[in-house]
Amino acid sequence: MKFFIDTANLDQIKDAQELGVLDGVTTNPSLMAKEGITGRNNILKHYVDICNIVDGDVSAEVIATDLQGMIREGEVLADLHEQIVVKVPMIRDGVKALKYFADKGIRTNCTLVFSPGQALLAAKAGATYVSPFIGRLDDISTDGLNLISEIRHIYDNYGYETEILAASIRHTMHIIDCAKVGADVMTGPLSAIEGLLKHPLTDIGLEKFLADYNKGN
Ligand code: G3P
Repeated sequence: MKFFIDTANLDQIKDAQELGVLDGVTTNPSLMAKEGITGRNNILKHYVDICNIVDGDVSAEVIATDLQGMIREGEVLADLHEQIVVKVPMIRDGVKALKYFADKGIRTNCTLVFSPGQALLAAKAGATYVSPFIGRLDDISTDGLNLISEIRHIYDNYGYETEILAASIRHTMHIIDCAKVGADVMTGPLSAIEGLLKHPLTDIGLEKFLADYNKGN
């Protein structure tokens, strides 16, 4: 399973990279705004800064919602750095843009996916990644994890190579559950990744090992 961090915060990206388990970064306009990164040039520069920290894929989202606009923006984003993956929303022109980029060899991440049908369309259009938002489904009393299972089933039926990128991960159990049902990638906050580390028996056990060692020294 690939681990992506879902943030535009450079310190958190560095922390995750230093942990040695980071495979990429996802961002969106809300995450950029949260870090105070506004204005086209600042945003483009920030993507390059992120690419210079991590080794893996960095999703950069288009703002346009019409085909020509998405193509224009996506080509600029893809030219920024070889690690950039163009993030495209699951709307009618977004599907056309996914196909256009696939034909040109530009990698894409289809975002704002909330149903198996949308995921099927994204795969048919040649998306590199599909991003089902599991936390936002949970927020409205719908089983987000079940969507990951359904997409896994459909993609396996036909051998689609589009990678399932479980997004809107909110906590550690989301990661574990997504790993159980076969998501290819998860993207979440640093806190969810660090939560995987923790077990009280590890802390108690280590404390006892060190205390016993110190008895003899
Ligand atoms: O990757 C998508 C993600 O940024 C959405 O997460 O927590 O805003 O639902 P959230």
